[in-house]
Amino acid sequence: MYPVYMIKFRTERLLLREWQDSDYPTFARINADTDVMRYFPAPLSEAESNANADVISTLIRGRGWGFWAVEIPEIASFIGFVGLHIPTTKLPFSPCVEIGWRLDKRFWGNGYATEAASFALKYGFTELDLNEIVSFTSTQNNPSQAVMKKLGMILDEEPFEHPSVPVPNPLREHVLYRISQKDWRAGFDCKCSLFGGS
Ligand SMILES: CC(C)(COP(=O)(O)OP(=O)(O)OC[C@H]1O[C@@H](n2cnc3c(N)ncnc32)[C@H](O)[C@@H]1OP(=O)(O)O)[C@@H](O)C(=O)NCCC(=O)NCCS
Repeated sequence: MYPVYMIKFRTERLLLREWQDSDYPTFARINADTDVMRYFPAPLSEAESNANADVISTLIRGRGWGFWAVEIPEIASFIGFVGLHIPTTKLPFSPCVEIGWRLDKRFWGNGYATEAASFALKYGFTELDLNEIVSFTSTQNNPSQAVMKKLGMILDEEPFEHPSVPVPNPLREHVLYRISQKDWRAGFDCKCSLFGGS
């Protein structure tokens, strides 16, 4: 018997959905993994991870969108998150809506992040009618930048210092990628479908 989600979206191989309590222990394991958190200031404790999941899932219930939980139906009930978020930290390019991802390393290298993010871009431009979606990461985070490039996002010329990364720390220097709705409509789409309700 599978849970019935109010918020759920299907891509070719994935289910993007609201969070459930059973996601929390896996999310804590992902956030404690030093490979996953290599480009963040530090891995998260279980308490920090749970608090993070609380915020994310509350935002999705309120808005209907956010950093959705990602599931591979019949294979893995939770592999991390991909989706859209309004950063709470004031950044040089605020206000903005960002696209972001964090997956269990056991599922890297399958194109899942790009597949889910393609859906998130489509949702942001077609359902939310956003003018632009941004993404940013440590200058050193090449895997994440590879996803941004595959989505057709364009690197902003100026790196910036992320205010939430303590000084001194080489991870503080970030790169910004952007994509406008106009450019997305001109060149990109994704093989995914919306299905809401229960
Ligand atoms: C960033 C992150 C999500 C990227 O994951 P990923 O699995 O490398 O990304 P993708 O989903 O795009 O997968 C791409 C790879 O899958 C391979 N692949 C296999 N099957 C595929 C398929 N059917 N379709 C597309 N790609 C496929 C591609 O060849 C590609 O490998 P390559 O980069 O060696 O060429 C992952 O590294 C991660 O979670 N990192 C930790 C958290 C993090 O840093 N988040 C970003 C902070 S801003």
